[in-house]
Amino acid sequence: MPKSKISLKAVILVGGEGTRLQPLTHVIPKPMLPVLNRPFLEHTIAYLKKYAVEDIILALSYLPEVIQDYFGDGSKLGVQLTYAIESHPLGTAGAVKNAEQYLDGTFVVLNGDIFTDLDIADMLAFHQHKRAKASIALTWVDNPCAFGVVDADSDGRIQRFVEKPSPDQVTSNWINAGIYILESEVLEHVPIGSHYMFEKGLFPLLLELGEPVYGYQFSGHWLDMGTPEKYLCLNCDLLLSKAKSVLINRLSKDEVWCDQDVTIHPSAKIIGPVIIASGCQIGQRVHIKGPVIIGPNCYLGDDVSLEETVLWRGVNIGVGAVLKQCVIGNDTKVTAKDQVINRVVIPQSSQNCT
Ligand code: GDD
Ligand code: MG
Repeated sequence: MPKSKISLKAVILVGGEGTRLQPLTHVIPKPMLPVLNRPFLEHTIAYLKKYAVEDIILALSYLPEVIQDYFGDGSKLGVQLTYAIESHPLGTAGAVKNAEQYLDGTFVVLNGDIFTDLDIADMLAFHQHKRAKASIALTWVDNPCAFGVVDADSDGRIQRFVEKPSPDQVTSNWINAGIYILESEVLEHVPIGSHYMFEKGLFPLLLELGEPVYGYQFSGHWLDMGTPEKYLCLNCDLLLSKAKSVLINRLSKDEVWCDQDVTIHPSAKIIGPVIIASGCQIGQRVHIKGPVIIGPNCYLGDDVSLEETVLWRGVNIGVGAVLKQCVIGNDTKVTAKDQVINRVVIPQSSQNCT
């Protein structure tokens, strides 16, 4: 449980196709990718709600209608959602500037692809104690080159940012975790309507201006799900209880959860943890070894074997196919006897859509 409830607005950033997750993100924006059969963003909203952060602005530049159609005004999830939609991508800071009319005082910003259990109340207390204009959550990673490296002094005051450093530029393993607490006055430095980033623009500028920018180090669970490996890893970690979602907390290791209308042939062997959504049919002698997540209305032919795999909705797997460490997109057909290892597969028809 969080230490205390807080009153804070949040902005969640959703932009760009998430090039490292293509082709999955051709028709589905990154935060709508299913995690335990629910859109990733729903987990993030539940996480914010746990901290009583219920006034949430979605700053969107990529397929906004997919998100709006699903979440509407947020009332079904017990939150209030406001949409700030960009006509062209404005970058991370530009997207928040585009939402400025909904913000005042102190607010929190989250990259839309971050899964974490960071204690927002504790980070807010840190921000207030330091009288910071901007506080940036910092997490420790083995290889910082894919992230923004942050150097801070012993008091936590940030000295330097290096976005996506080459190996010889790495001076620290503490990276920008993509979660910020900001004072609204910092947005005065962000140009209106042009592309502008926190990472290469606003944060270095605030340092130059001598503004108090602090790094909040935390050691809890953190993952950027923006690559197929990390996306699969997040689903598996949640099933294996290595990570916990506020949205779905009934999971326990080794179990098999079936929704309604699932038909499983008695000769099938299923070793948990496995989730099987409604309307699925599992054929004779199918072998499933968790962690595996099967979306709604999937069909698994006889003698199929699945391991460490996520199937989205309407997947049809032909007789005798073997899948291991795969993510299979909506309505994909896998040919009988195919051996598919460590791959992302979507139907041919979705591959050219943008
Ligand atoms: N609305 C909007 N508009 N959102 C955007 C835009 C834009 O023009 N550009 C990027 N975003 C959103 C992305 O959708 C994502 O949710 C977030 O901003 C970060 O973008 P990524 O493309 O995922 O960046 P990254 O993972 O390479 O790097 C960022 O995150 C790292 C932590 O995961 C940086 O902030 C790094 O410094 C950081 O370490
Ligand atoms: Mg990212």
